[in-house]
Amino acid sequence: MSTPEVHVRRYGHGSRVPGWDVPVDLDKDPATVPDPATTAVPAELRATIEGFIARYPDRRSAAIPALWAAQLTHGWCSPEAIRQVACVMTLTPAYLAQLVGFYDMFEEHPVGRHQVYVCTNISCSLRGADALHQAFREAAEGDAHFNIRGFECLGACDIAPMASVNGDYLGPLELSDAERVVRALQDGGEPPPGLRLGDRPNAGLTLEAQRAGDPGRGTRPSGGGDQPDRSDQGDPSGGASASAAAGSDASSGQRDPAPDESPDAPDDPGTTGQPANPKI
Ligand code: FES
Repeated sequence: MSTPEVHVRRYGHGSRVPGWDVPVDLDKDPATVPDPATTAVPAELRATIEGFIARYPDRRSAAIPALWAAQLTHGWCSPEAIRQVACVMTLTPAYLAQLVGFYDMFEEHPVGRHQVYVCTNISCSLRGADALHQAFREAAEGDAHFNIRGFECLGACDIAPMASVNGDYLGPLELSDAERVVRALQDGGEPPPGLRLGDRPNAGLTLEAQRAGDPGRGTRPSGGGDQPDRSDQGDPSGGASASAAAGSDASSGQRDPAPDESPDAPDDPGTTGQPANPKI
């Protein structure tokens, strides 16, 4: 049986798609910059955006951090949020909307205020990230305040499996940690102590000590792998843990020791508890 021949229209320049210089719709009004007289912008957001603009010779360079600030203010990049940024930056909303549509950490629809990004890239995947992602989803099921999603390498592979929770890096995580983290946030608190990257003696406290100018505390422990005592935090067998899933010592319930970090490691934006994103 022969396949019917399909004729696809070609434009005058020979392509099947319009040229880049062909206007989409001449009947529409040209895009305009929102009028400051009729566009209310929260004072704090305005000041933040103006601070970003002042950093660059071209104000458009501040578009991503400005949109991020608006997303933090409104919870998502709503049309109103985009108009506010456009007003302060004297750009068209369309210019900013294209950025929001391109970068997937900008939300184009309302989402829960708790942002939980579970890394599912290779290092975390080998240590049970898919099960951890599922555990978070189940723990927060039905709670619209949570935005739980997978993410591809958050740049903290040494604490795999890990997640970014409202910008804090947590790891290495066990399956039981998902429920503990979600419950703590639901109760209005912070993630349980000992899970955050900044809580680790060989990273966060060293950085803290360095900032405090205390050379004694700034010296990394000789063991290099001091981890919080988690013996009282459930699942002592380790049998259902993500670590166990990845082959750690299930009989002892111990986590694998974290690798040593160089003194420069805290300066890496990917390992300081800040997400690898335009958040500034
Ligand atoms: S693979 Fe998970 S942080 Fe890199």
